[in-house]
Order: sequence, then structure tokens, then C-alpha cells
Amino acid sequence: MTQHFNPTAPHDLIGIGFGPSNLALAIALQERAEQGGKAFDALFLERQPDYNWHGNTLVAQSELQISFLKDLVTLRNPSSRFSFVNYLKAHGRLVDFINLGTFYPCRMEYNDYLRWVAAQFAGQSRYGEQVLRVEPVIEADGRVQRLNVISQNQQGCEVSRQTRSVIVSTGGTPKIPPAFAGFKDDPRVFHHARYLSAMATQACSRGEPMRIAVVGAGQSAAEAFIDLSDNFPNVQVDMILRAAVLKPADDSPFVNEIFGPDYTDLVFNQPETERERLIREYHNTNYSVVDLDLIERIYAILYRQKVSGIERHAFLCRRIIESASDVDGRVQLQLRDLATGSTEARRYDAVILATGYERRSHRELLAPLKDYLDDFRVDRDYQLLARPELETPVFIQGFSQHSHGLSDTLLSVLPARSGEIAAALEQRLEGVSQSHALHEARALHSVSA
Ligand SMILES: Cc1cc2nc3c(=O)[nH]c(=O)nc-3n(C[C@H](O)[C@H](O)[C@H](O)COP(=O)(O)OP(=O)(O)OC[C@H]3O[C@@H](n4cnc5c(N)ncnc54)[C@H](O)[C@@H]3O)c2cc1C
Ligand SMILES: NC(=O)c1ccc[n+]([C@@H]2O[C@H](COP(=O)([O-])OP(=O)(O)OC[C@H]3O[C@@H](n4cnc5c(N)ncnc54)[C@H](OP(=O)(O)O)[C@@H]3O)[C@@H](O)[C@H]2O)c1
Repeated sequence: MTQHFNPTAPHDLIGIGFGPSNLALAIALQERAEQGGKAFDALFLERQPDYNWHGNTLVAQSELQISFLKDLVTLRNPSSRFSFVNYLKAHGRLVDFINLGTFYPCRMEYNDYLRWVAAQFAGQSRYGEQVLRVEPVIEADGRVQRLNVISQNQQGCEVSRQTRSVIVSTGGTPKIPPAFAGFKDDPRVFHHARYLSAMATQACSRGEPMRIAVVGAGQSAAEAFIDLSDNFPNVQVDMILRAAVLKPADDSPFVNEIFGPDYTDLVFNQPETERERLIREYHNTNYSVVDLDLIERIYAILYRQKVSGIERHAFLCRRIIESASDVDGRVQLQLRDLATGSTEARRYDAVILATGYERRSHRELLAPLKDYLDDFRVDRDYQLLARPELETPVFIQGFSQHSHGLSDTLLSVLPARSGEIAAALEQRLEGVSQSHALHEARALHSVSA
């Protein structure tokens, strides 16, 4: 059964997903309204039952990878009450945090900061609602002035709400290599995005021995390796990577300038081929790379094995996984050594796919609008380019790396981007209501003429 909320009073904006991107936007809209801007009726829909930032990956050792000064708001408004520093103050830990002498809080604490901010927007957010699709409401003259956002609530009911604009900020989708397609929903094979809940059901959580493969050579793979090594003494880990080595993330100061707000203009103003070149050049700031201190810890663990002669974990580099199959109740991986061409089969009790994320959920959610859109290309303000009949602005956050640069999927751009979208939204929604009023006035005129 679909529940309809008062279709005559559409929301000004519905944000899909309430991760850091839309949380930053909620702040930007509120602060703009407080400074005399338009106060919008905004609603944010989140599929998780409560606020959680990559909650299944929050292992004890995991730290934020950017400075806490790049929180949701400080770069745009350093005096905002939604800053990380104000969160620390409100929780009585400001002095203690300063004594820590770090710019990189643990991710558990940063999650708690985000939850603290989200709680302040409880009236504008609904949890436990997974948005399924966004549909156009087509008027008799072909124009679209409202969108239907259709979600599914925790009771399995479809809920439909109307809105004058949409912001899709639904983050990445776990990437599953094709070799593992046959293991969908198999508890032995899971993506790192489900690490903590999936590990809780494994035999090693009850102290039983297991052999586990971790696939990948990025930060997620490294964090899984360390967590398994530290907290599951009965687990033997094989780290399986296509690369020859684990490479460090380049976060040196000159390179870090690419994550500054000004850099977005630089990237956006380049021709397509140059943008692609820039992304390739700085790929090693974010993808398939690991924080240096973690690399050193992994190296030290493997070195100590050499000293003791007890080989617990294996580091299988330059290996392609040709196939994965169920053999005698275990997961058998057929590995090819890229250096020698030789193959071998290895069996595991579980396989953790730390194989990264794809960015495609906006295309799925917005598929009913596809015919109005210019292949999901955006303008500088992250609004999807569209045919004039689509009068409802649609914005996306986190899906524009190819046009806006590497910071697009990260936290560093949030304060600036949310400010830009809030300003664009105000301009375009106000523009829409003016043209709507004009249209209605013209219609009235032609009726009375
Ligand atoms: C493990 C991990 C750690 C990271 N650490 C850092 C870091 O330290 N620094 C950094 O800069 N970046 C980091 N990143 C990158 C990450 O993309 C950003 O930190 C940030 O999460 C981006 O925020 P977002 O709101 O765009 O996306 P997300 O955080 O992914 O939030 C999207 C939200 O949308 C919800 N959602 C998805 N689909 C639907 C739907 N159909 N209906 C309703 N809700 C939906 C999700 O549940 C989620 O809450 C990390 C990424 C991962 C995976
Ligand atoms: N502490 C933290 O803040 C933290 C923790 C975890 C993640 N993150 C962030 O989350 C984002 C994603 O990191 P991530 O480590 O999950 O992903 P990632 O950096 O994209 O790395 C994915 C890894 O999986 C490998 N891979 C992909 N497809 C494969 C296949 N078919 N077969 C074998 N290997 C395959 C890749 O290999 P190739 O290199 O050969 O392509 C790569 O090594 C990054 O921004 C990262 O910084 C942050």
C-alpha cells in the first residue's frame, strides 16, 4: 500500500540519504535562513534505522583520514555551532582532545560528532526509509513542477512524497568482483562495508580457528588485516592483491592542495581529457592506497613472523582471482600469479572483499527522469543538466568526481559544496516559483481573454 502525504503541499526539497553530505547541506540551509535567506521546508530520508557513518567499518583502530578542521562546516563558517570543536566542548573533551595532539580523531569519535549534529536535525529527517525511485509529476502541458519521491519504510510499505527539488547524496555502492557473483547472500563472502556485523556471525568470534582471505590493497583491506590480526588470534589471514606492493596514500602538503575548495573550479574549468589526466595523476591520494603508519604495522607483523618462523598470515601480491567456487563447504579461490603465470587453488572459511565502491546509485534512483536529463551531467553547482520541461532542480553530491575532482567523494569538500548548493537551490527554487506564478498569471489572462 502506498501512503500519500498531502500532495497539494510539496516539500521544497527532499534529500535522499542522510550521510555527511546531506548533513552538511542541512546545516548550510539552516545557517543561510538564520542569516536572512529563505527558510526551506526540507526533509531528509535515510534508509538506516539511525544515524551511522559507515558503521560496520568502525574498528577500534580506524582514524579519520583528514583533519578534524575539515568538518561539516568550519571551512565555510568557522564560528558555526556545528563544528567538531564545539562538539568537543559540548562533550567536555576539548582540553583532552588538545592534549592528544592530533588532527585525526578516531572514526568512532567522528561518527559520534556526526550523530550529535544529526540529532539537531531530528525534525527534518526520517530514518528507516529506503528511497526506491524519483518520478516526475507531468502536467497536462508536459511541464514537471513536482517530483514524487517513493520510499519503503521499515514495515515494508511504500511512501510517496511530493517535492519541488531533490538532492541525491546516497554515497558509494560496494563493488563485488564478478568472480564472486555466485556467493551473493552467502555469509562466508562479504564486502568490507559489512565487516563488523558479518564478523560477528563467523566461527572465529566464538574462538574457533578460521582461514580468511582479504581481497584488495586499499585502506579498507589494511584495516581489516590489522583488526583480524589483533583481535582474532585463531584467524590466519591471506591478503590477496593484484598490485605488487601496498602503496602509501600521498597526503603531503602540496598534494593536499587538490582537496582545497578552490581546486574544484580549477578541475571543473578544464576540458574533459585534462580532468581525466588530473584524476589519474592524483589517484594515489585516495584509491588503492593505505596510510603509511598502517603499512608499517603490517610490514612489522609479517617481519616478526619471519623472525619467529611461525607463518600465520600470508601476503599474496601480484595475484589475480580467476574464479571462486564452493568446494567441500569452503570457498576455493583459483589464483594466478601475474609474475610467473602459474596458478594455485587456496581454500578459505571466509572471504572479505575490500574491493572498493562504485558510484551509480543516483542513476538507479533517478532512472524515471532519465529522458529529461543530459546523461546525468551536472553544472558547476551540482545540478543535473535537464530539458526545460523539468522545472524541478535535481542536485547530486558525491557522484561528480569526473567533473569536480577527487574531493567530490570525500569529506573535504562538504562545507563549500553544501554552501554552493544551498545558494543555487535558493536561486533556482525562487526562480521556479516566479516562473510558476508568471505561468499561472498568463493562464488566468488567456482564460479571461
Ligand atoms: C570506511 C570508509 C571510511 C571513510 N573515511 C573517510 C575519511 O576519513 N575522510 C574522508 O574524507 N572520506 C572518507 N570516506 C569517504 C566517504 O565517502 C565520505 O567520508 C562520506 O561518507 C561521504 O558522505 P556522503 O553523505 O556523500 O555518503 P555516505 O556517507 O555514503 O552516506 C550516504 C547515506 O545515504 C544512505 N542511503 C543510500 N541509499 C539510500 C536510499 N536509497 N534511500 C535512503 N538512504 C540511502 C546511506 O545509508 C548513507 O547513510 C570513507 C569511506 C569509507 C567507505
Ligand atoms: N580510516 C578511514 O578513514 C578509511 C577506512 C577505509 C576506507 N576509507 C576510504 O574509503 C575509500 C575506499 O577505500 P577502499 O580501500 O575501500 O577501496 P579502494 O581504495 O578503491 O581499493 C579497492 C581495492 O580493491 C582492489 N580490487 C578492486 N576490484 C578488484 C578485483 N576484481 N579483484 C581484485 N582486487 C580488486 C583494488 O585493486 P587495484 O588497486 O588493483 O585496482 C584496490 O586495491 C577511500 O576513500 C578510503 O580512503 C577510509
